[in-house]
Amino acid sequence: MDKILVLDFGGQYDQLITRRVRDMHVYAELVSYRNTCVEKIREEGWKGIIFTGGPNSVYDEASPHFDPKILDLGIPVLGICYGHQLMAYMAGGEICSAGSISEYGKVTLKLSEESFLTRQLPKESSVWMSHTDYVRTVPDGFRITAVTSSCPCAAMENAEKKLYGVQFHPEVSHTEYGNTVLRNFVFDICGCKADWRMSDFLNSSLENIREKTKGGKVLLALSGGVDSSVCAALLAEAVGRDLTCVFVDHGMMRKNEAREVEEAFSKWDIDFMRIDAEEQFLTALKGVTDPERKRKIIGEEFIKVFERVGKKIGRVDFLAQGTIYPDVIESGLGDAATIKSHHNVGGLPAHVEFREILEPLRMLFKDEVRQLGRELGLPEYLVSRQPFPGPGLGIRVIGEVTKEKLDILRDADAVFREEIDRAAAEGLLPQAASQYFAVLTDTRSVGVMGDARTYGFVLALRSVTTDDFMTADWTRLPMEVLARAGSRIPNEVKSIGRVVYDITSKPPATVEWE
Ligand code: XMP
Repeated sequence: MDKILVLDFGGQYDQLITRRVRDMHVYAELVSYRNTCVEKIREEGWKGIIFTGGPNSVYDEASPHFDPKILDLGIPVLGICYGHQLMAYMAGGEICSAGSISEYGKVTLKLSEESFLTRQLPKESSVWMSHTDYVRTVPDGFRITAVTSSCPCAAMENAEKKLYGVQFHPEVSHTEYGNTVLRNFVFDICGCKADWRMSDFLNSSLENIREKTKGGKVLLALSGGVDSSVCAALLAEAVGRDLTCVFVDHGMMRKNEAREVEEAFSKWDIDFMRIDAEEQFLTALKGVTDPERKRKIIGEEFIKVFERVGKKIGRVDFLAQGTIYPDVIESGLGDAATIKSHHNVGGLPAHVEFREILEPLRMLFKDEVRQLGRELGLPEYLVSRQPFPGPGLGIRVIGEVTKEKLDILRDADAVFREEIDRAAAEGLLPQAASQYFAVLTDTRSVGVMGDARTYGFVLALRSVTTDDFMTADWTRLPMEVLARAGSRIPNEVKSIGRVVYDITSKPPATVEWE
C-alpha cells in the first residue's frame, strides 16, 4: 500500500492535509516532527512526504526544525507554508520577514514557469495565503515556478530531487485548484496508486491488534457512543472472547438505547457485561437540583461502579480506548500516554491494572470511524448516532432527576428525533441538524384538554447546527416539522402540557441546558 507521511510542524490545517490525501484513496498519516527521525522515515517506506505549515519563523530558536538529510532520501517532498520556508532554509535558501507585505486571505497566484506540481492549473487562480515570512532567495538547484503580487516565491522546486514548496495552502477549500496541486504531487510526482480503502484499514487493523495482543485479555468501557462502539466492534472481530466490554446503564440513556447497544454486540462472541446501575444513580441523585452537583455525582457513581467491576475483573493485559484523531490533537500531539478522561469512562483506567493501552482508532477522523463501523456490520443507528453527553438525560431533566421524569423525557425526545429524522430523510431540512433533543424543564404550565384544566410540564426542543460544537447556531427547522412535533408530543406523552423551541445560539448559551 502506497502511503504519504505528513510531517507535522504545528500548523492549523494539518489534519486537513491528511484528510485530503486519504480522500484520494491514498493512505496518509500525520506524525509530529518530534516523534520521528530520518532513519525511521527511510525504513518506513513512504512514497512521499508533506511538510505542514506552522506558526513560527524558521529563524526563531524555538521553531521546529528537522534533519536536512530528509531532503536527500530520494523521497519526494512537498513543503507547505512554513514547510516551504523550512525546506528553503534547510537547502540553503534565504527567508525574510514580509513585514508590511505579509499576505492573509485570498490572493491571485500567477504561474511563472511550467511545473509538474501546477499542471492543469490556469495561468492565474485564487489561493489562500497566511504568512508573514517569505522565501527571498531560493536554494541552489531550485527555481521559482509561481508568484503573487507581493510574494516573489509562491512556489519553488528542484524537480531533479523531487523537492517542491508552495507558500499558499493547497489543502483549504479557498484555494481554487488546491486539490489538483495535491493530486499532482501524490500521483504524478510520488507515483502513488489510489488503492487505499476502509476495508484495507480494517484488515490491517485486525492483523495489528492480533499481533499485539497475542491472546492477552482486552478490556473496553463501552459508552454506546460512536467511537467506543466502533472500537468495541473492531476488537470483537479481532480477538473475540479475549475482549471484555463493560457497559454501564445508568438509567439515563435515551429510549431503547441500552437495549440497542447490547443487541448490536450480540453477534460477536465476547464477554459483554451490562451493568444495570439505574437504582444506584437515581438514589444518589435524589433531591439534587444543582447542575454541577448532578454532573459531579454522576461522575462519582461511575467511579464506584468501575471500582466494583474492576475488582471483579482483576488484571487485564490491555485497556482499549476509542480515542480518535481529533482527541489526539486536543490532548497534545503524539502524546500516546494521554488517557481520555471522558465523563462516562473516566473511572475505569484507575481501577484496573493493565499492561498497555490500545487505541486502534487514533488515526481516524469521525466520519472515517463511522465508515469503519459500517464495514464491521454495526447497525446504522449506532454508527450515525449524534453526540450524547456522559451524564445522559440526567442533565436534560432540569431540577431533580426522577425515573418518572426520565420516562416522560425519553418518550418526548423519541418523538422529536423521529420527526427530525423523517424530515431529513424526505430532504425537508434546509440545513443539517447536528444534534437535536428534548429537555424537560421544571416549569409547569396551565392548559386545557377536553373540558379539563391541565397543569403539565413545559418541554423544550433543541436542535443545533455546528461543525465542531465549540460554537453552534440553532437549526432553522421548517415550520411543518415544529408543528408536527408540537402537536404529537402533548398528545402522545402524558404530562407534557406545552412545547417550546430553543432559539439561542452558542455562545451565549451552551448546547446542553445544564
Ligand atoms: P455544551 O453543552 O458544552 O456541549 O455546549 C458541547 C457538546 O458536548 C456534549 N457534552 C458532553 N459530552 N460528556 C460528554 O461526553 C459531558 O459531560 C458532556 N457535556 C456536554 C454536548 O452534548 C455537545 O455535543
